[in-house]
Amino acid sequence: MRSWLFVPGNSEKKLAKSLATAADAVIVDLEDSVALNDKESARVITSSFLRETSRASPALWVRVNALDTGLTDEDLDAVMAARPAGIMLPKSLSGKDVTHLDAKLTVLEARHNIDDGDTQICVVATETAASLFTLGTYMGSSPRLSALTWGAEDLSADLGAQTSRDGDGKLTDPYRLARALCLSGAVAASAQPLDTVFVNFHNEPGLKEECEAACSDGFTGKMAIHPNQIDIINQAFTPSLDAIQRAQVIVAAFADAGNAGVVAIDGEMLDRPHLRRAETVLTRAELAKNK
Ligand code: COA
Ligand code: MG
Repeated sequence: MRSWLFVPGNSEKKLAKSLATAADAVIVDLEDSVALNDKESARVITSSFLRETSRASPALWVRVNALDTGLTDEDLDAVMAARPAGIMLPKSLSGKDVTHLDAKLTVLEARHNIDDGDTQICVVATETAASLFTLGTYMGSSPRLSALTWGAEDLSADLGAQTSRDGDGKLTDPYRLARALCLSGAVAASAQPLDTVFVNFHNEPGLKEECEAACSDGFTGKMAIHPNQIDIINQAFTPSLDAIQRAQVIVAAFADAGNAGVVAIDGEMLDRPHLRRAETVLTRAELAKNK
C-alpha cells in the first residue's frame, strides 16, 4: 500500500473526509493526535466509524497507544469488534512488543469471531534511542507483521535534539540512520518498509522530492497527515510507464536467454539483481493497477 493517511480518531469530520481521498490506507489515530482527556470519546467515534464504513478501500487501520501507557488494552477492546484491517503500534521497542501484541490480537479475534491472524500489525520502530539497536529483532516476531515505519519527532525528543532537519529541510544524521535501519529491518522481516510523515503539508515539491528519494531507496509507501499529500505519494510510489517498459524488456531478455545468469541489453551487462529489480517494478505496477 502506497499512501497511509493519518486521521485523528476524535474528528468525525476528518474521518468522513478521509474516505473521499485516494489513500490506500487510513490510520485512525488514538495516540499522539488525541489529548489524554479525549481518549475515551476518540475510541467511541473510531469504533462507529469502522463499523459504519463497509468498503474494501481504503484499508482501515487504528494506531493504538503504546504498550507502556496502560491504554493499549482499552483501545483494542474498543475497536477490535469493528474488525480493523490492522493495528499500528507506536514506540515499539523490539520484535518482542510485536509478539506481545500478536497474543492480545489472537485473544480478541477469538472473542469477536474473527479468523485467527486476520488483523495485521505495523510498528513505528524508531521512536526511542534504545529502539535503534533492535531493528533486526522484527524478523520472525509475528506472521501478522506487514509493515515497519519510522518516526523522527518522538526520536528527536528522546535524543534531546532541537530539530531533526537542517536549514535546507534535509534530515540530519541520527534520523537518516533511523530511516536506513527501518528500511533494512522491514525488508529483513519481509514487511513493507513505509517512510515517515512529511509534516510541512503546504510544501508539495518538498514532499515529492522526499517520496522519490524514499522510493529509490526501497521504501514502498509513505504516511501522510493531510489529504493534499495523497496524490503526490500515490504517484511517486507507482512505477512510471517508462520504468514498466524497461522492466518488461529486462524480464523478456532473461526469459529469451533461457533464464541465463547474465544478459546484455544495448551494450549493458545485466545480471540477477537487475532481474529481481525489474520483477519488483512489475509487481508494484500490478498492485497499483488493482487500487
Ligand atoms: N484527514 C482527513 N481530512 C483532513 C485531514 C486528515 N488528516 N487533515 C485535514 N483535513 C481536512 C480538514 O478538515 C479540512 O476540511 P474542510 O475543507 O472540510 O474544512 C481540509 O482537509 C483542509 O484542511 P486544512 O485547513 O488545510 O488543514 P487543518 O488546519 O484543518 O488541519 C492538521 C491541519 C495538521 C491539524 C490536519 O491535517 C491533521 O489533523 N492531520 C493529521 C494529524 C495526525 O493524525 N497526526 C498524527 C500522526 S503524525
Ligand atoms: Mg508520535
